[in-house]
Amino acid sequence: MDILAALDSLVTEFESGLALASTPESLEELRVDALGRKGKLAQIMSRLPELEPAARPAAGQKANSVKERCNALFEARKQAILAIRESAALRRFDPTLPGRAPWRGSLHPTTLITEEICAVFSGMGFDVVSGPEVEHDYYNFEALNMPAAHPARDMQDTLYITGQTLLRTHTSPVQVRSMLARRPPLAVIAPGKVYRRDSDLTHTPMFHQVEGLLVEEGTSLAHLRGTLTIFVRAVFGAQTRVRFRPSFFPFTEPSAEVDISCSICGGEGQVAGQPCRVCKTTGWVEILGCGMVDPAVFAAVGYPEDISGFAFGMGVERVAMLKYGIGDLRMFFENDARFLAQFA
Ligand code: PHE
Repeated sequence: MDILAALDSLVTEFESGLALASTPESLEELRVDALGRKGKLAQIMSRLPELEPAARPAAGQKANSVKERCNALFEARKQAILAIRESAALRRFDPTLPGRAPWRGSLHPTTLITEEICAVFSGMGFDVVSGPEVEHDYYNFEALNMPAAHPARDMQDTLYITGQTLLRTHTSPVQVRSMLARRPPLAVIAPGKVYRRDSDLTHTPMFHQVEGLLVEEGTSLAHLRGTLTIFVRAVFGAQTRVRFRPSFFPFTEPSAEVDISCSICGGEGQVAGQPCRVCKTTGWVEILGCGMVDPAVFAAVGYPEDISGFAFGMGVERVAMLKYGIGDLRMFFENDARFLAQFA
């Protein structure tokens, strides 16, 4: 084939090759094959000496225009392929799909239960109060009728900061602070963090308590029982039964521990024929400690001798575990989003 005809067919071949190519990579292959240093155009031009010297400049010009034409065809096809790709990517994006909802936080179950407990007592006229977590020995122990040699003050159980300051081991020091700050009659409810040197499957070094205190002339154990029964039924349901078991606390006399009928098995001791793992088949679970304020505590805060009152304290995580049937205390401290999201 003569050189000029070869140049023409190079363009047609190149053009039909481009039409078949569908990726930028295969386009580039075609370009190198036609226009590259060892490509078809170069091969054709190496035959230039075959021509009469007079015909050579025209052949050279034609070769240049072939090169320009091929480059232009290449560029146009490449743009077309990129445009197709882009529109395919756009089609994969479906603007009618609903948006992703942003993650929404929720209150921690400890907070929820604390608020629920406080709301019940607020409804009965108790004021919500708080006290410091770093507490003086006097308020945490001494004024609560736990003198220096009392076993509960042991380094084994209490996190001391200095000789006389410690992380409060219960919310009961708020009783003392409230009585010193007010005059009877008074009724307060005090939620907050407490700390003990205890860490195993069922104990954490920090947990939450709610403390209650009511002081008013003529208060009796019956008032305590009535108040706690209202509370228990508000949180665990109207069918819940309440039982007082004699107990001991240095700052109350008499003292009791309160059990409620198991919220998981309804007091049956069994769930669907299986032994209830929450109450361990007894049908009862302990929920709080309470009692009539010991006269020694009234004396410590300078209250009149004939005054009376009751106090109670409960663990918030414990109430939450019983209410929601949560078997593992660690759930409250691990912040597993799958657990927390269930309280949203
Ligand atoms: N402070 C006690 C405890 O932490 C609970 C309690 C409070 C008992 C008030 C009686 C009265 O175990």
